[in-house]
Amino acid sequence: MIVEQNVPLQAHNTFGIVAKARALVRVHGEADVLQLMADPEHGHVPKFVLGGGSNIVLTGDVKPLVLKIEVPGRRVVEDGPRFTVLEAGAGENWHDFVTWTLDQGHAGLENLALIPGTVGAAPVQNVGAYGVELQDRFESLDAIDLVTGKIFTLDAAQCAFGYRDSVFKHVPAKEGDFGLGGRALILRVRFRLPKPWKPVLGYADLQRKIQETGIANPSPRQIYDWVCAVRTVKLPDPRVIGNAGSFFKNPTVSPDQCQDIIAREPNIVHYPMPDGSVKLAAGWLIDACGWKGKSVGNAGVYEKQALVLVNRGGATGGEVVTLARAIQTSVYERFGIRLEPEPVVV
Ligand code: EPU
Repeated sequence: MIVEQNVPLQAHNTFGIVAKARALVRVHGEADVLQLMADPEHGHVPKFVLGGGSNIVLTGDVKPLVLKIEVPGRRVVEDGPRFTVLEAGAGENWHDFVTWTLDQGHAGLENLALIPGTVGAAPVQNVGAYGVELQDRFESLDAIDLVTGKIFTLDAAQCAFGYRDSVFKHVPAKEGDFGLGGRALILRVRFRLPKPWKPVLGYADLQRKIQETGIANPSPRQIYDWVCAVRTVKLPDPRVIGNAGSFFKNPTVSPDQCQDIIAREPNIVHYPMPDGSVKLAAGWLIDACGWKGKSVGNAGVYEKQALVLVNRGGATGGEVVTLARAIQTSVYERFGIRLEPEPVVV
């Protein structure tokens, strides 16, 4: 086990914020975690699990011991008549994994192409895009308990998936509280891809592609290409402009609240949900408040998608947080809606 000191984290967070880990250990599998836990010096110190760094805002050097997840591996677990089960190590790059599944002829993850981050981080926020959420294709995952060293497997129900939410996002305040945040380190994730494959094309951007191209029955690869093209136009590439994807969740309101807002704001983008609530487009709310293209220091609101905050070069985590709070205030003052951030502020 090698404990690296003062490791720069700029390349390990997609916002590209400059910060350091006081100490960092690279985890390639459960053996590394068990060895670390048995270590008299580092076994009991506070720890911070870092995946692809695609959903964090670093506001300073990270004091807990950083566990950088680099668990490798991709394999077909089962290829049956009704479904295929695939497995990937938590350290695998998400988009490379999605591409690999299609290269192997396994369709089902194409709508989730080009999402930044790692396989291990994907269940934490139940990533979703273009009508598919990770939970729709999830089989199970293996994790290790950082307190007891026990390895365990969770199915979808045990992961308590919600919209951009799971059991891993909740940090229990005391023993027995709900949540595995800060405690479970995800090692491997398995996906169940149903057969026969059915395309998911309900999302407006994909309908537009069908109209534009005249391709009414796209292949999985065609959908993958469309999703990559739509994302490339709307969302900044973190390798070029630092960002953490959508900065806020899309809020839901009651139908009454929504009617109230529509009376004042007839153009508001809203989607009725199966449970009767109404989802609002946070990007539209932020845009309507005039934030597109605005900045606080070197942190800014992306010109093509107001839901994405970007690092214009040298932004600090403090600037990102200040900008986010200012946006929350103006959206609240105009619409009476509290926007909830997606990334974790560290
Ligand atoms: N809109 C505006 N102005 C903006 C941005 C959006 O008017 O600046 C309007 C759009 O015109 C559209 C609506 O808001 O009518 C929704 O926008 P979009 O289709 O871009 O999707 P979104 O709701 O903003 C969500 C996810 C994305 C995901 C896309 C596609 C959340 C928080 N975000 O964005 O996820 O890729 O749908 O499914 O749910 C992410 O989580 O990092 C992410 C990128």
